[in-house]
Amino acid sequence: MPLDILVGAQWGDEGKGRMVDLLAAEADFVARYCGGDNAGHTVNVGSQTFKLHLIPSGVIHPHTIGIIGNGMVINPQVLFEEINMLEQAGVFIDPSRLEISFAAHLITPAHLALDQAIENQRGAARLGTTLRGIGPAYTDKVSRQGLRVGWMLNPDSFIEELSRHLEITNRLLTRLYDAPPVEIPPIVTAYRKFAAALSPYIKDTSATLNRAIRQGKHVLAEGAQGTLLDLDHGTYPFVTSSSTTAAGALSGLGLGLGCESRVIGVAKAFQTRVGSGPFPTEVEGVVAEHLRGTGENPWDEYGTTTGRPRRVGWLDLVLLRYAVRVNGLTELVLTKLDILSGLPGVNLCVAYRLEDHVYQDLPLGPGGLGTFQPVYEELPGWQEDIGDIRSWEDLPDQACDYILRIEELIGIPVRMVSVGPEREQWVEIA
Ligand code: IMP
Repeated sequence: MPLDILVGAQWGDEGKGRMVDLLAAEADFVARYCGGDNAGHTVNVGSQTFKLHLIPSGVIHPHTIGIIGNGMVINPQVLFEEINMLEQAGVFIDPSRLEISFAAHLITPAHLALDQAIENQRGAARLGTTLRGIGPAYTDKVSRQGLRVGWMLNPDSFIEELSRHLEITNRLLTRLYDAPPVEIPPIVTAYRKFAAALSPYIKDTSATLNRAIRQGKHVLAEGAQGTLLDLDHGTYPFVTSSSTTAAGALSGLGLGLGCESRVIGVAKAFQTRVGSGPFPTEVEGVVAEHLRGTGENPWDEYGTTTGRPRRVGWLDLVLLRYAVRVNGLTELVLTKLDILSGLPGVNLCVAYRLEDHVYQDLPLGPGGLGTFQPVYEELPGWQEDIGDIRSWEDLPDQACDYILRIEELIGIPVRMVSVGPEREQWVEIA
């Protein structure tokens, strides 16, 4: 297929970075289409661990070209720190290896300050954002007050727009949120430098990708966050501010509907969530400690971007079926199956109960999730360490039954399962 769209099928952190790393081996272009440095994609290559927030993680493969699409918001400070980090690890990024859409938007320190001020004002009702300025930058974009990356190509008028944005945001910060203003001159100086450094990267990335697809090249659209954090289809208002679902890949990269594609969902073998919001299958106690890990390993359930312990729970198939529907998933990749080893039994949430009613699907989207009780099917667990297993036949029968039951209940095939954090720790399912 010319286009692979990889999307998170849960609340983010599904292990998409690793899957991208695998698929990018076959891709010519790796393109991110939503969000900004709120994302945290971890890729382990040999003894090296890469934590990428903004640059598509597929660029670790030297033959690929990375694309930062028009659907993204970019903090240039973070971008250059990431480019330097990659260079120090031996991955060289220059304008021949990374293109940034002229229509992507910029995040400034004023957006960061506003994100913090809004969260402070919400108090106990805070969303638990990553405080990376994501919401305020998208708010400015939608209200047509944003700063387009392409404007940096004309530095004087860009600085005028930037100053206008900083002054308006300072008024909001001080008058509406009772927060200190940002200091304007150092930001202007820094962004003038960023404009000069970013200019060679700024391109019409939609044209690049469409040309590539016409020429038979292979594009991997790399989703960030997850379906349940999508602005329209997620657990609103506990969502991020962009279109994280498969349709967002098309609009966030400037691709049309006619392109043949696989839509690959990535889900953990259990459920996790960072930040606030409903989570019907959340667990605490011994099972939670088992699923979360201690925090000593990079793959334990602690946020890549924030370091916060993630909330954990059993796999929720009502939500996974919903993700299959709103993304049009053609196949699923299941990550972290190995983490379930050692549990006496594993639960699958197959439906929800509300008073006398049992719901197989969400009645009005995932908004009012908090009121539902999960209906569980309990399956026998397996005790073996499965980290060295590479074929379906060698997996414990109970693990195979778990996967087969998931397939049956979501209606699409599970193509791969990960059995450990290393690059080669996968089992392909024919
Ligand atoms: P924001 O994207 O920083 O505005 O945060 C909004 C919500 O999305 C918060 O609950 C965040 O924890 C969550 N979120 C944003 N990005 C990610 C991610 O990459 N993984 C998991 N959760 C995320």
